[in-house]
Amino acid sequence: MNKATRKAVIAGNWKMNKTPSETTALINEMKPLVAGADCDVVLCVPYIDIPAAVAAAEGSNIKIGAENVHFKASGAYTGEVSVDMLKESGVEYVVIGHSERRQYFGETDQTVNLRTLAAVNGGLKAIVCVGETLEQRELGYTETLLKYQTKMALTNVTAEQLKNVIIAYEPVWAIGTGVTATADQADEGNGYVRAAIAEAYGAEVAETVTVQYGGSMNAGNAAELVSKVNVDGGLIGGASLKAADFSVIVKAASEG
Ligand code: 13P
Repeated sequence: MNKATRKAVIAGNWKMNKTPSETTALINEMKPLVAGADCDVVLCVPYIDIPAAVAAAEGSNIKIGAENVHFKASGAYTGEVSVDMLKESGVEYVVIGHSERRQYFGETDQTVNLRTLAAVNGGLKAIVCVGETLEQRELGYTETLLKYQTKMALTNVTAEQLKNVIIAYEPVWAIGTGVTATADQADEGNGYVRAAIAEAYGAEVAETVTVQYGGSMNAGNAAELVSKVNVDGGLIGGASLKAADFSVIVKAASEG
């Protein structure tokens, strides 16, 4: 990563794991282990766990995020949660367009863009996920797809608002599979994302945007991944459910 121009961010994505009481216990365990980190530390948790997470993280360097948000301000959208609801609950970040939401819940590039706009207009920091499937990679579409997803997600986002956007490159084939992209593949994918941002906003702006890698990032491979110039931290699934492993990743990003 390049700490001279941008911030390293390690974010956990708990997905559908942990009850509220388990949330309190895990964050209490993590707090002393990540205190004093030289990177931003975020935990994105299920909606129902947010009050427990915010209370447990209070006074620490851990920021709390949600795993999704609806793009409308309010209304007849049963089961959905708005930006204002999250903000009032103490949430600062939100994951948008995770591949699991694209795969299982009908998320499209258009709705990713609407959610991103709602988040940045409402004062949340968006962690926007992009990534290719194995089939798309094997067909040679990785660069085209990553640039397309990145530009679609950022449509109508201003350069000023981009300061509150993180892009997470998460190759779908590396998520939850134990198959991590090599550090060079991660750097290349993140580089395509940065190139897309440069095409849309200019190279100088692109140099300031935090681009994370995600997909089977763990205590054993984090240091090598974040040693790459385009890898500004990570979005961590499974390893963010274990305090010791997560803290090793935070340490790697702090020292990288
Ligand atoms: P894993 O770290 O479990 O592969 O998940 C990555 C991810 O999807 C984070 O959003």
